[in-house]
Amino acid sequence: MELARPSRKTNGVGVQVEDAQICVVMVGLPARGKSLIAQKAQRYLKWLSIDAQVFNVGNYRRTDNPHPPADFFDAGNAEGERSRRAAAEAAVTDMLGWFKNGGIIAILDATNSTKARRRWIKERCDKEGVETLFVESKCDDEELIMSNILEVKTSSPDYVGHDPEKAAQDFRNRIRNYEKVYETIDKDENDLTYLKIMNVGKQVIINAIQDYLQSRVVYYLMNLHIKQRSIWLSRHGESEWNVYGKIGGDADLSPRGEAYALKLPELVKQSFGPGEDHPLTVWTSTLRRTIATARHLPQEYNQLQWKALDELDSGVCDNMTYAEIKELYPEDFEARDQDKYNYRYRGGESYRDVVIRLEPIIMELERSENILIVTHQAILRCIYAYFMKEDQEKSPWLNVPLHTLIKLTPRAYGTDKQVFKAGVEAVSTWRGKGSVAKHEDPVEGVTTSLDV
Ligand code: ATP
Ligand code: F6P
Repeated sequence: MELARPSRKTNGVGVQVEDAQICVVMVGLPARGKSLIAQKAQRYLKWLSIDAQVFNVGNYRRTDNPHPPADFFDAGNAEGERSRRAAAEAAVTDMLGWFKNGGIIAILDATNSTKARRRWIKERCDKEGVETLFVESKCDDEELIMSNILEVKTSSPDYVGHDPEKAAQDFRNRIRNYEKVYETIDKDENDLTYLKIMNVGKQVIINAIQDYLQSRVVYYLMNLHIKQRSIWLSRHGESEWNVYGKIGGDADLSPRGEAYALKLPELVKQSFGPGEDHPLTVWTSTLRRTIATARHLPQEYNQLQWKALDELDSGVCDNMTYAEIKELYPEDFEARDQDKYNYRYRGGESYRDVVIRLEPIIMELERSENILIVTHQAILRCIYAYFMKEDQEKSPWLNVPLHTLIKLTPRAYGTDKQVFKAGVEAVSTWRGKGSVAKHEDPVEGVTTSLDV
């Protein structure tokens, strides 16, 4: 019996998904960044509460053939062909099963390098009412391909225990084998919906994008770049309201907050790696405490104020202490503790709302290079959750101490984190479930702290 699919009319964050289910089919020779693009797309969509899953055909193939040599990938190798075909079958079958259970966007991560293979995937998806969006990454920059091989391929599970130089040579031979049969997406395939990204976005071709969700994915992928850069995150210095234990508002910095503002330029310099001592772009919110915190940074740092970086709007509870909120709105206080991510303050916002308004910030961050963001506790938790893949249930409870600079550096498959403490005392604004304490020490094990 065919089970009805769960309703997908909206994804719960006001994103109209029009009942679409999309298979994003990666296309491209090895070492063209397909897996990286797939991982980033999944992270972005999940952050937006859109159910997304990567199906990596290489992982299926590895169960039978964990360390195949380059000639395994020669189209003339019958055993190789059979095994690779079986891996693709298994991945597509699992993927379609996942769609039946209500999944929204699957990313099929494989080379999908022939027209016949792409046609087969499209037919399988068409039958299940799943849309296909082909994303081809083309790159003929030999230097970049070589550096990709050295950066990620020599440490791939395919080459565990292998000499890196021999692994790199073998991987180049693997690419040669793929090149013999590789067919780029061309006008014969103009009935397909596709995005072609050439040399990391130097040129982009978009064909037959059909709906809103597809265009969102395409827009995100068009904004990605792979230049080395970092993102610095800091809360504002301690504010008068932090000292009183009041939330929201537009208070000035406390004397200790002022001391942090004075220390910030030095802290930023201390965080620089070799050759990194160049001007940063600084983003603050429009609230006084972030602008004041950034005001001693060097003149040559461009500063931009974003309304989207303002603290979570606590509506009728703005300017209250947690104790006052519990007293005046006990049910709300309880409801927020039960589901902090989804709870929306009366006349204000939830964490879920904040994520939606931060989307343009994330898009701009993806396009940009070195950025220092001076913002607020809840906002920083949401931005941090995007980069570090924190769960929605956990992220609103993260401990984000004041007077601490966090440097995030995106790498091929993940984000490195470094933490720099200013050494200027400040109150704790972290609050555990149920508590109305003005200043509470974070409880280890109950929360994740992002300063370690
Ligand atoms: P394979 O087919 O072997 O799985 P792949 O195409 O999935 O290879 P990745 O493992 O994603 O390749 O390669 C990651 C490397 O590619 C990283 O070093 C990353 O910086 C780089 N990269 C990311 N995007 C692109 C792009 N659009 N073009 C070329 N290289 C890219
Ligand atoms: O207490 C500082 C503050 O930035 C408040 O302005 C804001 O309401 C609060 O943190 C957000 O943290 P939480 O979601 O834990 O209440």
